[in-house]
Amino acid sequence: MTKYQIEGGHRLEGTVTISGAKNAAVAIIPAALLVKGVCKIENVPDISDVQILLQILEQMGASVRHLSSNTVEIDCSQVDYVEPNPDLVRRIRASYYLIGALLGRFGRAKVAMPGGCNFAPRPIDQHVKGFEALGADVEENSEYVIAQAQGDALQAGRVNLDVVSVGATINIIIAAVLAPGQTIIENAAKEPHIVDLANFLNTMGARISGAGTDVIKIKGVKSLRGGFYSIIPDQIEAGTYMAAVAAVGGNVLVKNVIPKHMDCISAKLREMGAKVTEYDDSIRVEKVRRLRRATVKTLPYPGFPTDMQGQIGVCMTLAEGTSRITESIYETRFFAYCQEFRAMGAIMEVNGKTAAITGVESLHGATVQAHDLRAGAALVIAGLAAQGETFVENIHYIERGYENLIGKLTALGAQIRRVED
Ligand code: EPU
Repeated sequence: MTKYQIEGGHRLEGTVTISGAKNAAVAIIPAALLVKGVCKIENVPDISDVQILLQILEQMGASVRHLSSNTVEIDCSQVDYVEPNPDLVRRIRASYYLIGALLGRFGRAKVAMPGGCNFAPRPIDQHVKGFEALGADVEENSEYVIAQAQGDALQAGRVNLDVVSVGATINIIIAAVLAPGQTIIENAAKEPHIVDLANFLNTMGARISGAGTDVIKIKGVKSLRGGFYSIIPDQIEAGTYMAAVAAVGGNVLVKNVIPKHMDCISAKLREMGAKVTEYDDSIRVEKVRRLRRATVKTLPYPGFPTDMQGQIGVCMTLAEGTSRITESIYETRFFAYCQEFRAMGAIMEVNGKTAAITGVESLHGATVQAHDLRAGAALVIAGLAAQGETFVENIHYIERGYENLIGKLTALGAQIRRVED
């Protein structure tokens, strides 16, 4: 078994460059299925979720050329296949975007139930509601989602989402881009990667407006052409390094970020006593004192992201006083790391949607398991901050979403390496 071995207690100093946003890339790559032409995409994170999606497209007949580790050319002109490889589909969550893309392009799709991180029940009823509003019949069983447009092609429709869902918003945008008429999504999610997907599709000739607000309008176009696009930096990767500096100690310039996307994370770290300085496309984080307690409630963007819950949680384990996190997106997410934190000496009590974390002077090393991507990242930070040696197991979760984590941390002075049993 491959795991991370971490020797804690080393300050983080230097510069780290943030990669392209995972959750934008995993939407943009399936969306390329709608384009008849070459999409040259830059700032693509080199992570396993992206590699799997590219493999899925290739097996469907797309031409995929890696121009460098972060630039890829995708040409889906020749794809005529509506059943992506179920084994690959089951390995990632974002494979549900293949349903929207295939429905949009071919009017039908048979896609295995998506896999990915399982920190909570993750229904797709809002995706289905959207496809149905666009005139599709959708059948779900334990293995597959089978969708078929009535009359062989989708039509524009109006969808009011019952919950603010990133995935459903993205999937409906993708499905609607080629559907004649005007589609309107109300109560849409506003995350930066939704804007990025819309910008990508508009660059290729789509007519999407309102992305980044809660009402998105999509005027169906006849076809999309190829073009060039560069993916935005990853908000959560940046937030993870920022939280790491605040928890472990040190002074790091986090480069290639959009500071506006980081507002809520920057504000929380400042409130906890870290020094956070924003520049045009970078942020410096410095630990200047022991962190103070804080209260966090996770919310859809622009609120505090659920994907940063565990990372800010590590900061709280070492802060003065008792901090509280209220999780409002995925109630069971605390269980992905709560036991592991405790094994490292943290004091954490979970009561329904709320966790109370009472700061200790120091954490100690332990052998812990990543149960999902972000919980895994939190455990790495905890290991870096702890006294002694930590082993983090199940690292395939972490490698789904963090490009070159070991290289980036090592360059900051962390003692972390990948080891085999
Ligand atoms: N929901 C429904 N029905 C649906 C869809 C969602 O009830 O059809 C509920 C969910 O159960 C949840 C809430 O709506 O309570 C929000 O879920 P959302 O659809 O926004 O989440 P997602 O699209 O499945 C994406 C990210 C997650 C991130 C969430 C929330 C991708 C591929 N995944 O998931 O990222 O936690 O948004 O911001 O974009 C990660 O990167 O580690 C990760 C898990």
